[in-house]
Amino acid sequence: MAVPERNHNRFYHLHHHHQHQVFSVLIVLFLIHVDNALCIRFPDRVAPPALHQSDQQRLQVAVFALGSFWRSEAVFGCLPGVVHTTVGYAGGSKSNPEYRSLGDHAECVKVEYDPQQNSFRDLLDVFWSNHDPRQVYGQGPDVGKQYRSIIFVNGTEESRMASVSKEQEQTRSRSSIVTTQILQLGTFYPAEPDHQKFELKQNTILLQLIGNLPAEELERSSLATKLNGYVAELCPPNIQKRIDAKINDIIKRGWPILREL
Ligand SMILES: *[C@@H]1O[C@H](CO)[C@@H](O)[C@H](O)[C@H]1NC(C)=O
Repeated sequence: MAVPERNHNRFYHLHHHHQHQVFSVLIVLFLIHVDNALCIRFPDRVAPPALHQSDQQRLQVAVFALGSFWRSEAVFGCLPGVVHTTVGYAGGSKSNPEYRSLGDHAECVKVEYDPQQNSFRDLLDVFWSNHDPRQVYGQGPDVGKQYRSIIFVNGTEESRMASVSKEQEQTRSRSSIVTTQILQLGTFYPAEPDHQKFELKQNTILLQLIGNLPAEELERSSLATKLNGYVAELCPPNIQKRIDAKINDIIKRGWPILREL
């Protein structure tokens, strides 16, 4: 099995996090094992469990811009109740934006969530605690208008909640101005397939573990949504640990397909 160069970087990166040492060691053992024996057969694909119509209807949509959308997707992906995530462009006026020419749009993540498990208010807390809204037109090394901070709202109730939470954030930030915009959600343009579940796509082992889903299935898969956050180490600590344990357990039991978390 060929492991691309990028993956070695990923493993190197994982070694620097104590909670991932066990996982890293197991992955290395696994690689050696596969190289030597090739006795593990990964099925080509597994159909994802279909979401019932009623579950699908119950889902709500929230869109946020908080810097690079690769990271934003990972930040929201493994929260309880988050079923799907999609990266894309919104907040500008250019029609049909693309990654290399997104005009005045911002990089965004669209989060589809079950309101019985998670509220818009909870998502706002995650939004604030995962970027620096005081930085003007950028996040860390990513500089440019496409990385600006935006909460998209649908209707007056969400608009009110967003304003209240922005005021609270401004109080916490004291004299530094919180730059976050609050905009009514207009058109959300999904980004090109390469950018969807970007973090997960850097890890061929995990891709195989869920059955090498074709691109469109990977984009809609709730499991991939969670693992995309896990692999970026952006899940809440308790969830990160739980997924770690589950994956280690699966490796111990001889690598069947991971179907759910
Ligand atoms: C906005 O809210 C309305 C009413 O709750 C809903 O029907 C509509 O689908 C929502 N729009 C989006 C883009 O989520």
